[in-house]
Amino acid sequence: MSENSIMNTFGQMSVSFESGDGVWLYDTDGNKYFDTFFGIAVSSLGHANAAITKAVKDQAGRLMHCSNFYRNPLQEKLAHSLCEISNMEKVFFCNSGAEANEAAIKIAQRYANERGIPNPKVIVMDNAFHGRTMATLSASANAKLGVTPLMEGFLRAPYNDIDVVTELFSTHNDIVAVMLEPIQGEGGIHIAQINYLKALRTLCDEQNALLILDEVQTGNGRTGKYFAHEHANIHPDVVTAAKGLANGFPIGACLARGPAASILIPSSHGITFGGNPLACAAALAVIEQITEHNLIKRAELTGAHILHRLKDELGSADYVKRIEGKGLMIGIELSEPCFALVALAKAKGILLNVTSNNVIRLLPPLNISDEESEFLIEACVQIIRLYAADDRSKPRD
Ligand SMILES: Cc1ncc(COP(=O)(O)O)c(C=O)c1O
Repeated sequence: MSENSIMNTFGQMSVSFESGDGVWLYDTDGNKYFDTFFGIAVSSLGHANAAITKAVKDQAGRLMHCSNFYRNPLQEKLAHSLCEISNMEKVFFCNSGAEANEAAIKIAQRYANERGIPNPKVIVMDNAFHGRTMATLSASANAKLGVTPLMEGFLRAPYNDIDVVTELFSTHNDIVAVMLEPIQGEGGIHIAQINYLKALRTLCDEQNALLILDEVQTGNGRTGKYFAHEHANIHPDVVTAAKGLANGFPIGACLARGPAASILIPSSHGITFGGNPLACAAALAVIEQITEHNLIKRAELTGAHILHRLKDELGSADYVKRIEGKGLMIGIELSEPCFALVALAKAKGILLNVTSNNVIRLLPPLNISDEESEFLIEACVQIIRLYAADDRSKPRD
């Protein structure tokens, strides 16, 4: 038997963390690391947040799991809170972002089937990432993974290009939905323009199609609004959330309104673990913390400061192509692939994430302090400068 029996889906680094505290992680050898991406936007109130730990502990002592055959007051309370926050009507709870998006895609398909469209199409975007299950992988732009056949029924358009979406609607009469991330995360931090989102909303209304927003990464306060689409003042028919929903306890949610809210009925969809009491207790505690400490406003202001400082320090460097972000979701795009930066940063006690080959993605927690933000900025600037200098000193073929 090999030493490590884990399937190699993540190409893991040789470091194991055994505890965390806010922005810090501690490895099994006692080394301390400053985290900059928090499990990719998951631990959005920091590692080992005391309030969330307490909520999970208390609930674990009462009841962890109970079948979705029965009413679950914590699930109902969480659904009510999320609907109130987002002005949606109904929620389906699951365990992950991909599962939330699967539910959204199923809603779209059943919505079409009920209208006599047997093979409906969903418009999705270039660079999109919606998950790794077969339907969400098929909806993602990342079809290069050598998995066939992918699921049919997705039409692709360039992000931020309303003309192509309009054209697709005019050449297909079986389009049932448009699905996109309001800010592409895995795709390299690309922000949907406000006019584009508004135009998509209008187009979907005219075409009787559902507007599905994947807010798995952008949701839960990260961008300075609870959901990023609020920046555009639009209202989707379906919106999905997961990552930051319970600060690391696995949970996903698919929220819907209007006709989309009543599509899923007994035997059309379901789940064993989704929205169990433990997950809901954690998620409710997160919402309570966000509200009590005004963390969405904090994310907006701290994010704007970090973005401004990064642009100031790095914006004119020729190895930096673009610095973009909204709230605490920030990307620094370098002019060349930069995966080697991850190991360089780790050696200096900084955990960095690189996505889309050359984008350093910063996803600090909503409650990051001013001193910690300064540390984050300084650390990123230093490491990127060092990397660029080091990279240039290497011979080129
Ligand atoms: C926008 C978006 N959608 C969906 C997913 C998939 O979520 P999960 O990994 O929880 O299935 C991700 C994960 O990175 C994501 O960023």
